[in-house]
Amino acid sequence: MEKFKLNNGVEIPAIALGVFRIEDQKITYETVKSALELGYRHIDTAMIYGNEEAVGKAVKDSGIPRREIFVTTKLWNDDQRSGKVEGAIDASLNRLGLDYVDLYLVHWPVKEHYVEVWKRMEKVYKEGKAKAIGVSNYNPHHLDDLLKTAEIVPAVNQIECYPYLAQQPVIDYCQAKGIRPEAWGPLGAGKTDVLGNQLIEHIAGKYGKTSAQVVLRWNLQRGVIVIPKSVHRERQAQNLNITDFELTPEELKQITSLDKNLRLGSDPDNFDF
Ligand SMILES: NC(=O)c1ccc[n+]([C@@H]2O[C@H](COP(=O)([O-])OP(=O)(O)OC[C@H]3O[C@@H](n4cnc5c(N)ncnc54)[C@H](OP(=O)(O)O)[C@@H]3O)[C@@H](O)[C@H]2O)c1
Repeated sequence: MEKFKLNNGVEIPAIALGVFRIEDQKITYETVKSALELGYRHIDTAMIYGNEEAVGKAVKDSGIPRREIFVTTKLWNDDQRSGKVEGAIDASLNRLGLDYVDLYLVHWPVKEHYVEVWKRMEKVYKEGKAKAIGVSNYNPHHLDDLLKTAEIVPAVNQIECYPYLAQQPVIDYCQAKGIRPEAWGPLGAGKTDVLGNQLIEHIAGKYGKTSAQVVLRWNLQRGVIVIPKSVHRERQAQNLNITDFELTPEELKQITSLDKNLRLGSDPDNFDF
């Protein structure tokens, strides 16, 4: 499993299983169990996904030593507004059945709260409840605000990122600041025809890979962690099997140039939840 090093020295597996929109606890459990059997060592959940309990149980039942599995969860917006960050991480740990997470992310930059919240995230980190702390859906201007008073630079910024939303400026910004970018919705979340794009299909054919594997590989080669979600074992296997081929610099550029700023999720500068 390929790993990246975060800015505090913690190693993060470059490919994770995402578990958004798997509300059914039994399906979450089976999905995570299957992924761990296949070799995944990084699971991306969140309080708001409502499935931390099943994730934790699958991690425990896998028999794989805890230190070998990287677990990410996230601080939801209401807990930022109420200022109950310590309570939120404790509740997540309780549901997961863990005494620490590997990465704790602020899920969205909630206006008027995200700078103050970072101070509390730093406390969570210092108390050892998270081995690394980071953010999600932050644009450079949010990070600029946060970095003015931050003692700890976020280790990760998890953003929506797939070929039609290539996010090169945000990635460049993060990399310049030592913040590791991480792509959510890396396959286009099943909402676009990106996997049927002619260029991507052509490149996939050249390497005997699928379009999904090509778009994941593109992000990996840009230094971006990918967290594809699938409840299907064969797709999970496919999404993990992306380290045995290498896109050329020209192909990377061609895929990046498919960018049309097409956001499928919410806009970090304009959301109402
Ligand atoms: N930080 C945030 O705000 C945020 C927001 C959204 C998501 N996330 C995280 O990012 C993860 C991934 O994003 P996502 O779930 O929205 O979208 P995604 O991973 O881009 O796409 C998932 C969709 O693609 C399908 N799929 C998976 N592998 C495939 C393959 N090899 N070939 C064809 N189709 C495939 C899945 O179907 P099946 O499951 O039926 O196979 C599902 O419909 C989430 O699970 C979550 O952990 C974070």
